[in-house]
Amino acid sequence: MQALDTQITVGVIGAGAMGAGIAQVAAQAGHRVHLHDQREGAAAAGRDGVAKQLQRRVDKGKMEQQAVDAIVDRIQPVSTLSQLSNSGMVIEAIIEDLEIKHMLLCELEQLCGDDTILATNTSSISVTALGSKLDHPERLVGMHFFNPAPLMALVEVVKGLATDDGVADTVHATAAKWGKKPVFATSTPGFIVNRVARPFYAESFRLLQEQAADPATLDAIIREAGGFRMGPFELTDLIGHDVNYAVTTSVFDAYYQDTRFLPSLIQKELVEAGRFGRKSGLGFYCYDDNSKPSEPNTEPAHESDETQLIVEGLLGPAAALVERLRDAGVDVIERDGPGQLRFGDAVLALTDGRMATERANSEGTPNLVLFDLAFDFTNTTRLAVGIADQAHDKARTDACALLQKAGIAVSVIEDRPGLVVMRTVAMLASQAADASLHGVATKEDIDLAMKAGLNYPDGPLSWSDRLGNSLVFEVLTNVQNSYGEDRYRPALFLRQNHYAEKGFYT
Ligand code: NAI
Repeated sequence: MQALDTQITVGVIGAGAMGAGIAQVAAQAGHRVHLHDQREGAAAAGRDGVAKQLQRRVDKGKMEQQAVDAIVDRIQPVSTLSQLSNSGMVIEAIIEDLEIKHMLLCELEQLCGDDTILATNTSSISVTALGSKLDHPERLVGMHFFNPAPLMALVEVVKGLATDDGVADTVHATAAKWGKKPVFATSTPGFIVNRVARPFYAESFRLLQEQAADPATLDAIIREAGGFRMGPFELTDLIGHDVNYAVTTSVFDAYYQDTRFLPSLIQKELVEAGRFGRKSGLGFYCYDDNSKPSEPNTEPAHESDETQLIVEGLLGPAAALVERLRDAGVDVIERDGPGQLRFGDAVLALTDGRMATERANSEGTPNLVLFDLAFDFTNTTRLAVGIADQAHDKARTDACALLQKAGIAVSVIEDRPGLVVMRTVAMLASQAADASLHGVATKEDIDLAMKAGLNYPDGPLSWSDRLGNSLVFEVLTNVQNSYGEDRYRPALFLRQNHYAEKGFYT
């Protein structure tokens, strides 16, 4: 499908954070942009903001002044809606309100030519509902940019029930031509990213509520072991708890209060207290100039006289840990077994979603120390561990000493099912699998969306394949069993893949 020709004028309505950014993206791609805002002076201010942003790039030597001037010249603030009538595509980025957007879209439909594409940047309103008052709802499509639009690669191209496939294809091709990574999504609550990402926040909030560890420790585990850019606490402090909590509750309600999307009481309380995060100076962390940064809990150096590591069976996704220990000079003996490590008194194993205490009891290994998943066991700088209640102190010492020999910082957390990274990744995979089951998007687009929209180190479905679909299924089954909660039910595709002995792509 053909992208819009750059000769075609693009209209942008709403010159706030998103509209100004979208105008910049379109102008950078070579379009003339007519930028409109109902607030007097806002469109001009939006264009000035773009000029200021780009000037920084000139100052850093990353752009030529001439190129910046040309881009800014292509953005023309207009004071009336009728000045958008000759646009080939109009993207609205006004206030998130169904009635106000309805009125605007109906007015636009009367003003613009029959071929004009109407696009909405809404992040939470149904595109189907937005199209319902139009004479030609087939020309309305979601074009959901992420904040800040000039920097974030992802664009979700959202099809409402009536959206014409050709219109969606044109918007997809146009977004790609503008240097973005577009994906198709159906008009379902949260589209792809705001639906699939919920467990990233929810599981850590829940672990905090269960006193597994403090925010700084959980953030460090998610960042260093999980390979995510930011931890959930620092990220929601940045996004703003008012905004993040509103998205969570709207998705929860939109899915008829499916407990998979359950909001967190801890976050609710922060919102009620006005602790919105960075913007209010206080959230999970304190942002006044005198406050010390919170440090994660890290075990002090443990001494152990043990030198020999016995590897019993295959460690699956954690196999690289054995190589790393061998490279660190640990004497390794391999023999058959259930997939665990013996070092001194300690028996170490990758979490399978059960608590260490429960597994120690059922497997007859009282000195069991479970370690968490790492995105990359060869390079991870930190691992979380959970220790069985039955374990002796020496088991803790031996387990920590072993991991420390490989240069890994150890965070001992309370013994909770699935620990931190494993449980989060398994839940992300389950959400992604259900989004695929429900036809929200293709599996490739779901993975791409999570990587391009949120900088995840891997897409949840390809990550699940790397771990082994059956392990993810087992982890969730065990976590669900531990809590007895529907929230952790494994997605149908995880179950089906498990019995078919395959993955999403393999
Ligand atoms: P904003 O509040 O920064 O800007 C909205 C602008 O629209 C304001 O300048 C306002 O004067 C103008 N406006 C309001 N009603 C209008 C009307 N009837 N006609 C013309 N102009 C009108 O809001 P923001 O954050 O830019 O969001 C805009 C849209 O983008 C919303 O639909 C939001 O859900 C969506 N969005 C926001 C993201 C974000 O992170 N802020 C991310 C992705 C989508």
